[in-house]
Amino acid sequence: MDKTPALRLTDIHLKLASQAGHVNILRGIDLEINQGETVAIVGPSGSGKSSLMMVVAGLERATNGKIEIAGQDVTHFDEDRFALFRRDQIGIVFQDFHLVPTMTALENVAIPLEFADIANPFDVARQQLEAVGLSHRIDHYPSQLSGGEQQRVALARACATNPALLLADEPTGNLDGETGKKIMDLLLGRHKAQKNTLLLITHDPKLADKCDRIVRVKDGLIVENIQTQKAVAQ
Ligand SMILES: Nc1ncnc2c1ncn2[C@@H]1O[C@H](COP(=O)(O)OP(=O)(O)OP(=O)(O)O)[C@@H](O)[C@H]1O
Ligand SMILES: [Mg+2]
Repeated sequence: MDKTPALRLTDIHLKLASQAGHVNILRGIDLEINQGETVAIVGPSGSGKSSLMMVVAGLERATNGKIEIAGQDVTHFDEDRFALFRRDQIGIVFQDFHLVPTMTALENVAIPLEFADIANPFDVARQQLEAVGLSHRIDHYPSQLSGGEQQRVALARACATNPALLLADEPTGNLDGETGKKIMDLLLGRHKAQKNTLLLITHDPKLADKCDRIVRVKDGLIVENIQTQKAVAQ
């Protein structure tokens, strides 16, 4: 089996300017995640979880440190190169869905596939939407979909290219308990089928326990990094 880590972060710092001066958001994060692992990122509000995910996705640039994804040092990739890398390797699901309001569910999934030069993007998108139980909603616009349905579209979009690394920032945070559970079942079902690496930010201890590992962030630092009972039982 390939032992190259899916993700390796070395001494990641993120310092941003704000009106109140510089804020040290990430203060030296070291983290290694194996291929195929599911890792829950937990911690108080404002601790830096989303910022960490943005750095991994190349949507925010670390002030210091090294980021390796699947053995590639992406730290100094320029915007265009990172965008291509993201397109091919990373899927992202946000708490507030981030769908394009002027595109139908089908277009939201298909257009990024078209940009990625995937063959038959609309057929693939249709299959992806079917897999999340949305065949009957493909021509609906986001505003015509419920929160859970919008998140299913976002999930279909994130998974459509079968990304090696799937990042999810509180994907159930804006959904009621039952709908959130369905989204998580879909997400973990996907993980089982595709064997990708999943980084999941969550406030829900029950969801965190479904992952192999729990990483706790506090004040921009990792304060705990433990295997769950699930991983121990395997
Ligand atoms: N662009 C920015 N400029 C200045 N400070 C920022 C910026 N973005 C985030 N922060 C600050 O960085 C800290 C970490 O924010 P982040 O969104 O990563 O936290 P979080 O752990 O995801 O919190 P939550 O659980 O509430 O989503 C917060 O104190 C926030 O105010
Ligand atoms: Mg956050």
